[in-house]
Amino acid sequence: MRLKNTADKYGPIAQLFHWTIVVLVITQFALALRADDLPRGAALLKTLALHKSIGITIFTLAVLRLLWRWVNPVPPMPSTAPRWQHLAARISHIALYALLLVMPLFGWMMSSARNFPVSWFGMFTLPDLVPANKAAYEFFHEGHEILGIVLFLLAILHAAAALKHHFIDRDDVLMRMLPWNRKRRSEH
Ligand code: HEM
Ligand code: HEM
Repeated sequence: MRLKNTADKYGPIAQLFHWTIVVLVITQFALALRADDLPRGAALLKTLALHKSIGITIFTLAVLRLLWRWVNPVPPMPSTAPRWQHLAARISHIALYALLLVMPLFGWMMSSARNFPVSWFGMFTLPDLVPANKAAYEFFHEGHEILGIVLFLLAILHAAAALKHHFIDRDDVLMRMLPWNRKRRSEH
């Protein structure tokens, strides 16, 4: 099986990174919403511990994904798409990658600044990124919340663009991020 990307399709490794991270990011929002509803106590600590562990996992996967992308160029946008779409796709993909790195870092720094340990599924404890400090805690807390909203909106826009390519433009943009090998027939 060919693992790398080709000129017109993302390879299985790039696809696995993409869809695993999508599932984990959705889980992060679900856990954060649940944490919002919980009173202080064991259930809240457990939910946040899981949220932190999955967040650190997303950070690691995003780094590995970018390394894989670096040694393995992604397929270019279809030449039928207008120039503004090439630019919009480029900017939004860079922003999504940046958020996948900065969101977990802000979360981690928020916890460090509050003097809460960050452990990875209880297996090991990560070092504190910043010293305990109330102002820093408030900054990273606020930042984590605002960037969460930005990530949410951008991911919706991104998914809507993928669906528009598939159902309206009827090109291969969505299919090439999916494991199936169906190519669009020509319209004629
Ligand atoms: C891509 C990864 C992540 C996403 C998408 C994400 C998303 C969110 C969202 C949407 C919230 C709710 C915001 C609010 O109402 O305050 C939240 C809260 C929180 N996140 Fe994350 N997060 C991620 C990673 C992390 C990591 C790695 C940590 C810590 C190591 C972390 C720690 C927290 C904590 C402690 C809260 C609760 C804040 C509070 O006290 O209200 N997050 N996260
Ligand atoms: C948490 C949600 C998501 C994140 C963070 C995300 C992130 C990304 C990133 C960073 C890329 C660029 C890949 C690269 O070229 O290196 C990408 C590509 C892509 N994503 Fe997502 N994605 C998300 C959800 C979705 C959803 C729900 C869909 C489908 C409805 C989707 C469809 C696609 C497609 C089709 C591409 C390839 C675009 C192209 O060929 O230029 N994504 N995604």
